[in-house]
Amino acid sequence: MEGKIILITGSTDGIGKVTAKALAKQGHTIIVHGRNKEKAEVVCKEIKSETGNSRIDFIIADLFSLSDVKRMAIEFQEKYERLDVLINNAGAMFGKNRGITIDGYEKTIALNLLAPFLLIQLLLDTLAKSPSARIINITSAAHTMTGPLDLNDIQLENGYTFGKAYGQAKLYLIWITQHLAGKLKEKGLMHISSNSVHPGTVKTEFGQNENKGFWINLLLKLAMPFASTPEQGAETTIYLATSRDVENVTGAYFSNKKIAQPSKKYYSPENEKIIWDFCMETAKPYMDK
Ligand SMILES: NC(=O)c1ccc[n+]([C@@H]2O[C@H](COP(=O)([O-])OP(=O)(O)OC[C@H]3O[C@@H](n4cnc5c(N)ncnc54)[C@H](OP(=O)(O)O)[C@@H]3O)[C@@H](O)[C@H]2O)c1
Repeated sequence: MEGKIILITGSTDGIGKVTAKALAKQGHTIIVHGRNKEKAEVVCKEIKSETGNSRIDFIIADLFSLSDVKRMAIEFQEKYERLDVLINNAGAMFGKNRGITIDGYEKTIALNLLAPFLLIQLLLDTLAKSPSARIINITSAAHTMTGPLDLNDIQLENGYTFGKAYGQAKLYLIWITQHLAGKLKEKGLMHISSNSVHPGTVKTEFGQNENKGFWINLLLKLAMPFASTPEQGAETTIYLATSRDVENVTGAYFSNKKIAQPSKKYYSPENEKIIWDFCMETAKPYMDK
């Protein structure tokens, strides 16, 4: 088998783009995902010319739309027989006013949780065809700073703040990552791992373009010079995607290339299952063949 087939969402910029480039350098087949075709084409060209690897492809989908996630999964499956590594990297924090997607979901939850959840479900059969597949979900240490949870109001119809929405979406992403690890074992899919990663505080476009109010906008700008480079931010994901050391590790949360302990503050198996069931409910209409 000639290298791995690796799909990286949100790899037209930031940490995802650097991850794509580094994995391309190692000789793998890379599928760059973005929402803007022109930008994706430029990124693919850049990766090809800088790495000498011609097996760089792209796929376009707006992850705010679950139908588009489904179309992207079908498009991938029409072209590729198997998937070895799925990196759910696309993510963002939004502004001070709560927004919703065309499907009616709160934007932060839709992009950081519902889109990756659906993509995993739709690509599970394709991942199962790999001799050893890895699912890597990019989360954030911001999950430790989120306020009290109300699992009757997962989409923050009441009391939305951008920080709460982001922290909670990333906390729920950690929970579904570990829940998935259990489900994969139950199904006998021991050759697919499911782990999450905190990339560190990284200097990218992340959080820079949305209006969060004057003081927060200023604080974010001032914090940037102290943040890590995208290359440093990509290290743990690259390690998880390729290292033999983590071949049999599943259900874990990683930071700095090591297993770390996610916040237990709001954790219970019951809460984890509520979030899993919520994601499954939203995904179901898109999962029929
Ligand atoms: N930077 C940090 O300090 C930090 C810290 C902790 C966790 N993280 C997490 O790390 C991941 C990568 O962040 P980053 O800093 O590299 O962010 P970034 O520079 O803003 O890049 C985000 C990527 O996601 C894509 N994207 C955003 N919304 C999308 C949508 N609706 N549909 C499709 N693609 C979409 C962007 O596409 P465009 O090119 O079209 O914009 C871009 O390729 C995210 O999950 C983030 O939450 C970042």
